[in-house]
Amino acid sequence: MVDAQNSVLTSRLRGFGSTIFAEMTALATEKGAINLGQGFPDYDGPRVVLDAAVDAIRSGQNQYPPGPGIADLRSAISEHQRRFHGLSYQPDGEVLVTAGATEALAGALLGILEAGDEVVLLEPMYDSYQACIALAGAVTRPVTLRPPSYRLDVDALKAAIGPRTRMILLNTPHNPTGAVLGIDELRAVAELAIEHDLIVVSDEVYEHLVYDDARHVSIASLPGMRERTLVISSGGKTFNTTGWKVGWICGPANLVAAARAAKQFLTYVSSGPFQPAIAVGLRLPDSYFIELAADLSRKRDRLLSGLRAAGFEAYTPSGTYFITVDIRSMRPDGDGYAFCRELPDRCGVVGIPNVVFYDRTHEHEGRHLVRFAFCKREEVIDEAVARLMKVAS
Ligand SMILES: Cc1ncc(COP(=O)(O)O)c(C=O)c1O
Repeated sequence: MVDAQNSVLTSRLRGFGSTIFAEMTALATEKGAINLGQGFPDYDGPRVVLDAAVDAIRSGQNQYPPGPGIADLRSAISEHQRRFHGLSYQPDGEVLVTAGATEALAGALLGILEAGDEVVLLEPMYDSYQACIALAGAVTRPVTLRPPSYRLDVDALKAAIGPRTRMILLNTPHNPTGAVLGIDELRAVAELAIEHDLIVVSDEVYEHLVYDDARHVSIASLPGMRERTLVISSGGKTFNTTGWKVGWICGPANLVAAARAAKQFLTYVSSGPFQPAIAVGLRLPDSYFIELAADLSRKRDRLLSGLRAAGFEAYTPSGTYFITVDIRSMRPDGDGYAFCRELPDRCGVVGIPNVVFYDRTHEHEGRHLVRFAFCKREEVIDEAVARLMKVAS
């Protein structure tokens, strides 16, 4: 961990330490444990996408790509937004390619927020949100989603909006809870954003990982929202290429330009030969996206029933590739952090303590919760379950 008291660390980042994913993945490697912590698949994406990257490298696409991203990828992103969300974006000016969704978020937050602005967001939250908001000198106003249903409390959302609120940062499908915001919840958010003239940044990296009857709807497609919304996504989750870090932002030209102004001083550009490959992926037929979700939904059911059989109270996710469990049946003091630190030694499995996804003033909300990823081969899921069973017994 980075020492939170480190005197050379900027005060804006004190308390953030190093990300939990680095810590837990290092623990998994050190102990040879099964890593159900960090959200990356242990299998490759579609062959045609991988081949396109190899071809791009072999054909010399190895230098800086253009600042906004290569034209073919921007066109493919625009086509994808129209095909899946009915949204129309001009590849020139309304689409920006970034180093993963992480840089898209950083660009949007650093490029738009003033010091002292407030950002209302869903809690628990992906860990880069708070750090980027802090880097911008802005203030986080979390609205807590609670198990078992993790539905949005619209009154709490209303109460979180004040005179300094500049932005609502949404994430749906939602990491770590697996909640997928329903149309009524999205309409309520949209109504408040319009009433208070707020910008919405919508992190939709799990847009294709949705199960059962849940449907992912981009808030940008609701009336009056396109002009105030930046939609962020990434190829990592959809094409099992998390290491390629190809992300993007779509939105009205003025908002995209603000994000780009910050992004150009972060990486400037990235992932040259992977950009044409993600363009190939985005143009795959509907059957690819349908099978991706069907396969993950089978993996979800497998891990879910295994976790329940091991004795955890496990909440059914409607999206993403994460399951949250309550560990109190296994560890009555409910200390999820300690549980995750001990788990590799106790049984050779790694999970993520959900407490890291909560604001420090709300840690009690997530202290007893732990997240496991199911984007793993079936035999790996089965082995992880067998090991967790031993802890239970
Ligand atoms: C909600 C959410 N947003 C953004 C990201 C980062 O995406 P990328 O790897 O494309 O930077 C993740 C990765 O886990 C995530 O869960």
